[in-house]
Amino acid sequence: MTEDNNCKNLVYVSDDIVNVGIGVVIDVQNIYKYFGDLKVLNGISCAIKKGEKVAIIGPSGSGKSTLLRCMNLLEEPTYGEVWLDASIMTPVDPYLHKSILVTSNTYKKCMVEEIKTMLGKDEKEKLGYDDAVKLVDENTLEQLSDKIMTQIKSGDKLKKHEGTEFAKAVKAYNVRYGGNINKARQRVGMVFQHFNLFNNLTILQNMILSPVQLKLKSKEEATQKALKLLERIGLLDKKDEYPSKLSGGQKQRVAIARALVMDPEVMLFDEPTSALDPEMVGEVLSLIKDLADEGMTMVIVTHEMGFAREVANRVLFLDGGNIVEENTPEELFGNPQNERLKDFLSKVL
Ligand SMILES: Nc1ncnc2c1ncn2[C@@H]1O[C@H](COP(=O)(O)OP(=O)(O)OP(=O)(O)O)[C@@H](O)[C@H]1O
Ligand SMILES: [Mg+2]
Repeated sequence: MTEDNNCKNLVYVSDDIVNVGIGVVIDVQNIYKYFGDLKVLNGISCAIKKGEKVAIIGPSGSGKSTLLRCMNLLEEPTYGEVWLDASIMTPVDPYLHKSILVTSNTYKKCMVEEIKTMLGKDEKEKLGYDDAVKLVDENTLEQLSDKIMTQIKSGDKLKKHEGTEFAKAVKAYNVRYGGNINKARQRVGMVFQHFNLFNNLTILQNMILSPVQLKLKSKEEATQKALKLLERIGLLDKKDEYPSKLSGGQKQRVAIARALVMDPEVMLFDEPTSALDPEMVGEVLSLIKDLADEGMTMVIVTHEMGFAREVANRVLFLDGGNIVEENTPEELFGNPQNERLKDFLSKVL
């Protein structure tokens, strides 16, 4: 990894999670994602509130799908945390928590070195952490502490093992906030560009597979719900057909209905219309719009700027793994500030 690749945002989060009560459903905290040496997400933070419709736009390769996959926990971020309601779904990122960082051996060692240098002590003199911190006043200690934490964080200096106190602090955090990743996944519905229906199963079988396998619903319950949803999308007569007999637009509507059988709290859409023939885009967008109007919380990666403008409360523009601009659709499309966004819009609008 290069120096630049190692550099992390100096973001810390509060030790007490405040999401509950302010209606945040998915909270993405400073996530980075590397594939090998390739940095795809570069310190992204965003909170999705209940009922919000967030559109994500940006050039190809900017990290839109990766961000969505991290929100759905299909991908684990390299650094940073993803929260669902009041539960942490990723491993704890010690770099985000001052209270954890200060328990690391690396921090303590750096602190002792700093204090020795400050007091002009011989490098070789043995001095334990607890004794060292007693030699300076509180203000100085705080300043040194900030400096050291910044160094550790920006240099990615934590080691694999940082001592028992550190391990205990991480564990305590996990015990307090750790969520059940499988349960969480069920609460986040995802719809992909290429439908991902099982071709060897009928439409109805596709729809009830997950809820029944995961024992979320009995077969009867799931079937009832699936039939209702098929009726709603006008495809009840196709329930015993195989996906190959359906048009692209129909397949995508089934894929959306399939996600809805699980009663998700949030729906994530990754370019749900970009594999469709133009004449089928409308029927899929209209279904998504209906869900939005009913109050479903959703995040949509889309190239359909008109749709983003119409449906979203908020639009995020991603470029190079960063949220470069974020605003209401009126402002973002009508009055873009960032040059890269202006350039992007000039090509797609
Ligand atoms: N599993 C993976 N392994 C290696 N590289 C990956 C992987 N997934 C994505 N990438 C790379 O990460 C970068 C971002 O990919 P991502 O799919 O998130 O972009 P995107 O914004 O969704 O693009 P598009 O608009 O084309 O769908 C790309 O360079 C891609 O090649
Ligand atoms: Mg993509």
